[in-house]
Amino acid sequence: MKNRGHLVSIVVTLLFAFSGAYAIDLNSAAYPDATLSLEHGNPGFGASVLAVNAERLQGWIDHLATFSDDETPAVTRILFTDNDIAARRYVKSLMKDANLTITEDAVGNIYGLWEGSDTTDGIVGTGSHVDAIPLAGKYDGVLGVLGPIEAIKALQAAGFKPWRPIEVVMFTSEEPTRFGFGCLGSRVMSGHPEIRQKLEAAHDENGTSFDEAAAAAGYPDALKNLDSAVVKNKYSAFVELHIEQGPTLEEEGIPIGIVTAIAAPAQLTVTFSGGGGHAGATLMPFRNDAGLAAAELQLALEAAVLGTGSNDTVGTAGVVELRPGAVNNIRDVDGPRRDSVVEKVKAATEEIAERRKVGHTFTIGNQDPPATSGDRVLKAAVEATEQLRLRYKMMPSRAYHDSLFMARVAPTAMVFIPCFKGYSHRPDEFASKADMENGVRVLALTLAKLSVGPKTDCCH
Ligand SMILES: *[C@@H]1O[C@H](CO)[C@@H](O)[C@H](O)[C@H]1NC(C)=O
Ligand SMILES: *[C@@H]1O[C@H](CO)[C@@H](O)[C@H](O)[C@H]1NC(C)=O
Ligand SMILES: *[C@@H]1O[C@H](CO)[C@@H](O)[C@H](O)[C@H]1NC(C)=O
Ligand SMILES: [Zn+2]
Repeated sequence: MKNRGHLVSIVVTLLFAFSGAYAIDLNSAAYPDATLSLEHGNPGFGASVLAVNAERLQGWIDHLATFSDDETPAVTRILFTDNDIAARRYVKSLMKDANLTITEDAVGNIYGLWEGSDTTDGIVGTGSHVDAIPLAGKYDGVLGVLGPIEAIKALQAAGFKPWRPIEVVMFTSEEPTRFGFGCLGSRVMSGHPEIRQKLEAAHDENGTSFDEAAAAAGYPDALKNLDSAVVKNKYSAFVELHIEQGPTLEEEGIPIGIVTAIAAPAQLTVTFSGGGGHAGATLMPFRNDAGLAAAELQLALEAAVLGTGSNDTVGTAGVVELRPGAVNNIRDVDGPRRDSVVEKVKAATEEIAERRKVGHTFTIGNQDPPATSGDRVLKAAVEATEQLRLRYKMMPSRAYHDSLFMARVAPTAMVFIPCFKGYSHRPDEFASKADMENGVRVLALTLAKLSVGPKTDCCH
């Protein structure tokens, strides 16, 4: 029998989140019908005119779900595979049907533009992703791509004329499945400093490079043209519609969540390397057991989490692998607080390694800053929700989204709707038509307000 753990890495996921949640009850008489101003040539329309066809949206969602490597209801759609390419074609056909002007950038982000009467003051963006991890569901991301197309159709039917243009974005690879890191398209768009290096190094499980995969999907010379995909100063605001992916809204019976901040992950790799040796013959005082060092670090991690003294700080220890290459993912909407926990874990790693005489490495993979939502976008979303007489809750996003990166280039917010038991990334992921209708109406009115409203808190 060998000593336990010659080389041990631990995999730990910590989730920290700050929640300033509150709910507002609406007295139905308190909010007047939304009349969008007469500014910028709009006749104005009441919120009650804004009719969203949830049946049609459901039909699109169901059809998109058929482009899957697994049998429905499971959705598996990996970047630049045949089903992803078919899904892209379908999304473009829907954009075309809504009279949007379609463009695509070097890495396959797809844009559908509804022209406005002004071209000098930035574009109002909205969007999400349609790629899906293996055996996922049909709503994650998809609602944020097809919902805006329905929102635009509803605005068109209500006679709305955009002043600032409104654009739907389908981001490339929000999920990390094929190349190992998430939010690929939005990182490129935001001009993320390490993205070129990441993409140059990226290979899938079969050794196909990102550039090769992109070229095969119809996006040649992606890396060469990477800089042309950066969208600094393009958007005056950005808003993403998404299922909550948590149970709060459903449990509390609140139809709309307005996201005030998005948690960002920090990835750490911790390895302890012990001496090995014969487990029977090596006396306890002479051991340097990497497995026990890893066990201790998990307790230190728990202590660091509890040490913040806040119920909003939570941590889960995941897998302990008796092999190299483990990831420790820490998230928070408060950057310094998250980083203070990273520091404590680092100090504990060093102390444990020294005391137990085991070698160690501690590597910070990425440590993206969290994002705070833009005031003007939040205000538009709150007003829209109130005018539609829907109850809502201000809440953080504990998962990260393309909006985390869009927040670097434009004031950004997200709108959540409830989903069944908070399930996501599984085949029984579900959002009701009524909830989607509410979400799309809020999105539509928010986009309209951002399109015609003043640009007060700009950002660049
Ligand atoms: C799109 O354009 C066509 C042709 O100009 C027009 O007939 C149709 O009504 C438009 N559709 C929408 C949704 O505006
Ligand atoms: C890698 O190759 C296997 C076997 O041919 C295939 O099933 C899989 O889809 C490939 N992966 C990707 C991302 O193309
Ligand atoms: C944390 O939650 C528990 C259980 O709801 C509650 O009793 C306690 O007061 C909370 N502590 C803080 C600091 O909010
Ligand atoms: Zn998503």
